[in-house]
Amino acid sequence: MMMKLKVCGMRSSENINELIKLNPDFIGFIFHEKSPRNVIELPQVVIPKNIKKTGVFVDKSLEFIQEKAQQFGLDYIQLHGNETPKYCDELKTKGFKLIKAFNINADFDFEQTKDYESYCELFLFDAFGKQAGGNGITFNWELLQKYKGNTPFLLSGGINNTMVKNVLDFNHKKYKGIDINSGFELKPALKNIEMIKEFKAKLNNNKMNYHANEDGFYGKFGGAFIPEMLYHNVAELKANYLEIINSEAFQEEFKDLLKHYVGRPTPLYYAKRLSAKYKTNIFLKREDLNHTGAHKINNTIGQILVAKHLGKKRIIAETGAGQHGVATATVCALMNLECIVYMGEVDIARQAPNVARMKMLGATVKPAISGSKTLKDATNEAIRDWIANPEDTYYLIGSVVGPHPYPDMVARFQAIISKEMQVQLAEKTGRNYPDKIIACVGGGSNAAGAFYHYLDNENVALIAVEADGLGVATGETAATTQVGTEGIIHGSKTLLMQNSEGQITEPYSISAGLDYPGVGPLHAHLFKTGRGTFLGATDAEALDAAFELTQLEGIIPALESAHALAALKKLTFKTNENIVVNLSGRGDKDMEMYIKILNTKQ
Ligand SMILES: Cc1ncc(COP(=O)(O)O)c(C=O)c1O
Repeated sequence: MMMKLKVCGMRSSENINELIKLNPDFIGFIFHEKSPRNVIELPQVVIPKNIKKTGVFVDKSLEFIQEKAQQFGLDYIQLHGNETPKYCDELKTKGFKLIKAFNINADFDFEQTKDYESYCELFLFDAFGKQAGGNGITFNWELLQKYKGNTPFLLSGGINNTMVKNVLDFNHKKYKGIDINSGFELKPALKNIEMIKEFKAKLNNNKMNYHANEDGFYGKFGGAFIPEMLYHNVAELKANYLEIINSEAFQEEFKDLLKHYVGRPTPLYYAKRLSAKYKTNIFLKREDLNHTGAHKINNTIGQILVAKHLGKKRIIAETGAGQHGVATATVCALMNLECIVYMGEVDIARQAPNVARMKMLGATVKPAISGSKTLKDATNEAIRDWIANPEDTYYLIGSVVGPHPYPDMVARFQAIISKEMQVQLAEKTGRNYPDKIIACVGGGSNAAGAFYHYLDNENVALIAVEADGLGVATGETAATTQVGTEGIIHGSKTLLMQNSEGQITEPYSISAGLDYPGVGPLHAHLFKTGRGTFLGATDAEALDAAFELTQLEGIIPALESAHALAALKKLTFKTNENIVVNLSGRGDKDMEMYIKILNTKQ
């Protein structure tokens, strides 16, 4: 999020001229006689257009506001008194952009903000104080978690230069920035510009960005490193994906299908017996209950709609465990589009039920017979196909991997997981974020979705679990962050398993979905910056965890998800912590393996 900065209570021309150099988003002028910052004379300054001039008023007549707005060329009107929605309506009708301020304490009823929604561009949440603002008092920002409205807001009240971390850590999806005033003053209406400058720099420096930039980079990872022959396809997608997915038509169809076809929202289930065992509060995000049995369908629904918007007729995909292949074949059947799924020969053998499902859904399953005959080889085949059929074909990638814009696009589609979690946690725990989120990482799409809305909330520990296979030390592993180095795979700069000559080495895991020699660039960035904690679970630990969940909660997890569950044994918890494990899929496809284990136990 680009944090908006409003500096309020300005008066002196010289001081304003200095402030302009810092390029705040809003400069506020207070027109209220009782305020020591009351403005009477017009400051002699030219304020650039991109800085919005805001007039602050307390219960003034419409005529007074109109007069000041004209005199001062105000862009925004901020209302700090008991102005009614009807009064706001009148101002809006006259063409003013409004900010309505509310004074917040524990008794504040957020219902009252609803009536102002349609008239205001922004709300400003301030502390209660003797004066209508500029009191230097802060309030408990967590009270704002009760605010469920759609209007974005600025935080205000006693913010000073010691509060960089508080400002950055506060998390609310409608939080757009801050309003500073008395905390940065030499005397009323005279700001300490050096102090604001330092504060702004700290906000910018401390703000580690976990989202892709325009070129698809997460820090130094990501980008689009592709052969020239793919350039056109990728450029076409890059140029259009945001406009398509942000369009109303797309969002309507996407949400409708997620609800009625996929069965979302998936429950956030409090696992009572598992919680008792680990002496903490464990919630399972039930992606296993999605249509087709895993989180993969969130992404395929999104991408098939993108493909349709781009006018593509033929869909290609690669798959490891078969879950993404099934999810792709499913949406192609739904949309009546041709579907070709590339799958390693080894994976075809170990995921027979999913192969049958894809075929029944009308897809052609093409075996990849080179290399290890697993996911990376299937990926190579899919890319070859795309190069050969650039015009009519859409490559539907199944994880947060591949050239930009795929990692960002897939993360956006999977972000529905953490979006729902925010609402469900608020209902169940009174707080919209957990202490820890645990998710398995193959390419990293279920983890990206479960982390997405918490990436910037440092109160939430993000725990990614890779497949250690037979153990990292054995070399028979898929734990990319542990054994991998920087390089390019699948068109993206990231961490991958490679030898000294840059050749990709064979990963190994019992779980076909985690058996991938790279991680998406977001995860490489989370790993390198320390924002994510990366753990591993061996085959044996994952199997144990799968049986444990089945016996304690009556839920048979996918082998991939069992890796996330296995991390419970590796972490320490406090009794009052809230933990979410993203249960990415159900275990039906892995029954053959589970039956083998059952037979050895007898
Ligand atoms: C159930 C399940 N979970 C997790 C994964 C791993 O993929 P990702 O890391 O993209 O979530 C897969 C991949 O097929 C899967 O089927």
